[in-house]
Amino acid sequence: MVLWKKAGFCLLLVSLVWVLSGCGQGGKEGEPGEQIVKVGTDAAYPPFESQTGDQKLVGFDMEVMEAIAKAGGFKVQIQHTGWDPLFEGINSQKVDAGISAITITEDRKEQYDFSDPYFDAKQQILLPSDSQVKTLKELQGKKIGVQSATTGEFVVHEAFGKTYPHLKGYDDTPTAIEDLKLGRLDAVVADKGIVLEYIKRLGPDKFKAVEDPSFPPEQYGIIVKKGNKALLDKINAGLKKIKEDGTYDKLYKKYFQVQ
Ligand code: ARG
Repeated sequence: MVLWKKAGFCLLLVSLVWVLSGCGQGGKEGEPGEQIVKVGTDAAYPPFESQTGDQKLVGFDMEVMEAIAKAGGFKVQIQHTGWDPLFEGINSQKVDAGISAITITEDRKEQYDFSDPYFDAKQQILLPSDSQVKTLKELQGKKIGVQSATTGEFVVHEAFGKTYPHLKGYDDTPTAIEDLKLGRLDAVVADKGIVLEYIKRLGPDKFKAVEDPSFPPEQYGIIVKKGNKALLDKINAGLKKIKEDGTYDKLYKKYFQVQ
């Protein structure tokens, strides 16, 4: 009987401590009121970001963002927004940051703040393997598909002008590639990473990639609302850490050197 009373008292004491310490959520993580950074992405750009059947977001960018957050001591919640809505969402503060294979450009830098670069990229032309085209210029007069408002579109504008009549802009890149597959386009211009991924998926015997010497080198960065230095600092600190501790290299190898 006495023993039971003692045990009961101990239990009471333990629960009291438990409640006072924040119901077992001790430590920094999960503290009530802790800010969760909302991150937007256009999850239709494998292997950088895509959605699985059950709408889980997967890909290199997703893992890089999670690793940055872990290393930088904050939490993220990544959501699929689409491409144009991602940029709008940053402005309207629907999301705090964006990771989506976003190339750092002078124009974009005027409207958003970018993290330090985390990936080197370039445009490539995706073509049916029997195509004779060897340069961008040779696509003159041919039907080209791009994702609107991406650097793929910018290089085509640069080569053939903004009013080139055979340029078709899509809301996302996979839809453009679908049209290429169906023979409605002669080529798709997009980032090397996604072009190579689709060649793998569709069959290296059916599609090939061509890189034009005029394509400028590109680098990806994570965007935040202009002036959000507090968040940018956290992201850059996390990025620096994962580059130093080997986490970044591990992810890079996982997605891009898997021969
Ligand atoms: N790197 C290119 C750009 O910034 C294309 C990125 C598209 N990304 C995406 N998730 N759809 O314009």
